[in-house]
Amino acid sequence: MSPESSAAPDAIGSLSGIAIVGTGSALPKRRVTNTDLESVMDTSDEWIAQRTGIRSRHIHDPEAGESTASLATLAGQHALKAAGMAADQLDLIVCGTMTPDMPTPGIANLLTASLGTRTIAAFDLNAACSGFVYAMNTAHALMTTAPYRNALVLGVDCVTRFCEFSTLGRTSAILFGDAGGACVLSATEDPSKGLIAQAMHSDGCGAQHLYIPTDKHMFLNAEDYDERKINRIVMHGSNIFKFAVSTFPKLIGQTLDKANLTPDDVDHYICHQSNARILSTARDRFNIPEDKFYINIDRFGNTVGASIPLILDQETRSGRIKPGDRVMFLAFGAGLTWASSLWRV
Ligand code: ACO
Repeated sequence: MSPESSAAPDAIGSLSGIAIVGTGSALPKRRVTNTDLESVMDTSDEWIAQRTGIRSRHIHDPEAGESTASLATLAGQHALKAAGMAADQLDLIVCGTMTPDMPTPGIANLLTASLGTRTIAAFDLNAACSGFVYAMNTAHALMTTAPYRNALVLGVDCVTRFCEFSTLGRTSAILFGDAGGACVLSATEDPSKGLIAQAMHSDGCGAQHLYIPTDKHMFLNAEDYDERKINRIVMHGSNIFKFAVSTFPKLIGQTLDKANLTPDDVDHYICHQSNARILSTARDRFNIPEDKFYINIDRFGNTVGASIPLILDQETRSGRIKPGDRVMFLAFGAGLTWASSLWRV
């Protein structure tokens, strides 16, 4: 009996499988280094690199037409091309984003036009940095219960729109970058492919640790109040740090238990890139070798919902992720939210 077939009752098994058949990603052209940030705020390359592991990030340029929608379109086109699929073959689009370009219409809705799909089911989902993982689990659930054969799942964010690039916002502005990532899911006769186990959590009691107040009435802590912080990220970094350091290992353990697997049974751990120190703590707790646990935060910063599909695309294209491998996606974010999704690809 394979470990998956003896999984706990809440692990998902389907008669027919769902395969990840193509991946894609997109980055803004403009690359901003820590040294560049030194010229607009009181910070240093050394401080940022030591505390976060970040060296540079890409920041979208609205003047050049870059936006959440444009990155989503590019990432989606690349994923469709890799899958050898035309846009009109898609039945479903689920986009994890907390930074749609406007409150409505949503990014997934706009993609039906920019990609040229039929009038299919398409919607955004906001679970902050956990958005892509939530979107993968949601798309899989819909594909196993409704007649959707092909789905495009995305994680796309241009969060730097809400960063204050001055000393006032330095604690959060140094962390973030913009990007988009996508994958195409397709129903397959091969039952070994698809979701093995998943977990999704939310705890609104932690909302005040990271939020974006949209007007003066929206500050969740009285002491955060500052007119200059309206439409800017308000973050209590050390609270988020403590939450993440304890949550990642718990999430890995919970997901392995659901799948009845050991840490060694998983071939790739793809975690939300929030801070290199948070990632190292999780890796050390399970003695996961470095070559199974990807860190690219040095080049891209924290790209919110895009960080996981960005790595998925890189590692799929490099050939490191191979058919039959087990891949665990893990994320935490504002909300607070946290989620996992363990796949056999
Ligand atoms: N450059 C230089 N100094 C700075 C900077 C900066 N950019 N930012 C803060 N400092 C200073 C502070 O003012 C403070 O100085 P003081 O001691 O004189 O008061 C000192 O550095 C330490 O500040 P802390 O905030 O305590 O630094 P910490 O070690 O906690 O690191 C950091 C801050 C990097 C933000 C860390 O807390 C962290 O990574 N937290 C997790 C954040 C995160 O992952 N957020 C994303 C969540 S995902 C989502 O959903 C969006």
